[in-house]
Amino acid sequence: MHPQLFFFLFITFSFHPCSSQKNIQFKSCAPLPFSCGNFTKNITFPFSIDGTSPGCGLPDLHLSCTSDNLAQLMMNNVSYQVKNIDYEKQIMTIANMAYINIDDSCSYLSINTSFDYSLFDYTGNDHNLTYYGCSIPLNWSSSGFYELCNTGDYYYFIAVAVGVFDPLGYDYCDSRYNVSIGKPYSMDDLMKVLADGFDVMWKPGKDWCDKCVRSGGRCGFDESKPNDPLCLWPNGVEILAGLFELPKLVARLPHRPKSSTQLTYEKFNMGVD
Ligand SMILES: *[C@@H]1O[C@H](CO)[C@@H](O)[C@H](O)[C@H]1NC(C)=O
Ligand SMILES: *[C@@H]1O[C@H](CO)[C@@H](O)[C@H](O)[C@H]1NC(C)=O
Ligand SMILES: *[C@@H]1O[C@H](CO)[C@@H](O)[C@H](O)[C@H]1NC(C)=O
Ligand SMILES: *[C@@H]1O[C@H](CO)[C@@H](O)[C@H](O)[C@H]1NC(C)=O
Ligand SMILES: *[C@@H]1O[C@H](CO)[C@@H](O)[C@H](O)[C@H]1NC(C)=O
Ligand SMILES: *[C@@H]1O[C@H](CO)[C@@H](O)[C@H](O)[C@H]1NC(C)=O
Ligand SMILES: *[C@@H]1O[C@H](CO)[C@@H](O)[C@H](O)[C@H]1NC(C)=O
Repeated sequence: MHPQLFFFLFITFSFHPCSSQKNIQFKSCAPLPFSCGNFTKNITFPFSIDGTSPGCGLPDLHLSCTSDNLAQLMMNNVSYQVKNIDYEKQIMTIANMAYINIDDSCSYLSINTSFDYSLFDYTGNDHNLTYYGCSIPLNWSSSGFYELCNTGDYYYFIAVAVGVFDPLGYDYCDSRYNVSIGKPYSMDDLMKVLADGFDVMWKPGKDWCDKCVRSGGRCGFDESKPNDPLCLWPNGVEILAGLFELPKLVARLPHRPKSSTQLTYEKFNMGVD
């Protein structure tokens, strides 16, 4: 079936003129300029900043600006620097703030940079780095471990050889840290690689927001149903969940639409492949 016909049909069948989200509007979800240090971006769904209207950006994806002028996102109580947001690819580059301006305390190593899987996914660009915390110095040359840092009575090691023993099997090593990095590291640039961060793909809007934006709409959500897609259009028409994946219908080709509502559909239609 012709894709445009298909699209016209399911919109015709699924239009919800009296949806409950009428308080969330196209114009209130306009992109908001955000500037913090070197980071300058127009912020739209799924992100929010101070001033984002309810329903336009998720509170869990709130960007702020630190006193050091770093764009910040808090996740699982861990503070990340936001280095880039690519709306088209739905990829954000973030770095654990602990790895920036590190001091001699080693405390920056005692943090996992695991992230919130309900909101984010790995991308193909990521690599894992695993290191261990131990109460005695391991002998690197005999054990295959490289010391990253020590506090005097606690030592952090990274395994540099494949197939070395698991230090967690020993009493004196009691912690393991998994950290995401954006590219393979060498010992010389490990701290830089950590500070450069890694890519994550955000999940909210994954399957529909790009289509909504390309059709001239803006993405939003209803706070009572935050997981349901909501595409806002200038004339107030809202398109709800699942519309992009309805089963195919068989019907005759309709005449050219005439009403203003149908014209909007047509515009939407053109925005989708
Ligand atoms: C901004 O960019 C400049 C040059 O790229 C860099 O030296 C500086 O550290 C950056 N500042 C921040 C806050 O990222
Ligand atoms: C934000 O949007 C405005 C208006 O469309 C545009 O002029 C500006 O260049 C954008 N800023 C960034 C950082 O993309
Ligand atoms: C997050 O940090 C706050 C303040 O430091 C603390 O009170 C809270 O328990 C932490 N929450 C989690 C889940 O670790
Ligand atoms: C890193 O670890 C996560 C969680 O165990 C896994 O899903 C991901 O595939 C790993 N990435 C690489 C490049 O090994
Ligand atoms: C580390 O192990 C090597 C080989 O087993 C040994 O020659 C060296 O003395 C050890 N170094 C320390 C500091 O224990
Ligand atoms: C770090 O994360 C790994 C994987 O989730 C977990 O096994 C480990 O206990 C965590 N370490 C600490 C110190 O929280
Ligand atoms: C931690 O990293 C190790 C080694 O890359 C991997 O086998 C393990 O699945 C990771 N665990 C988590 C919870 O990410």
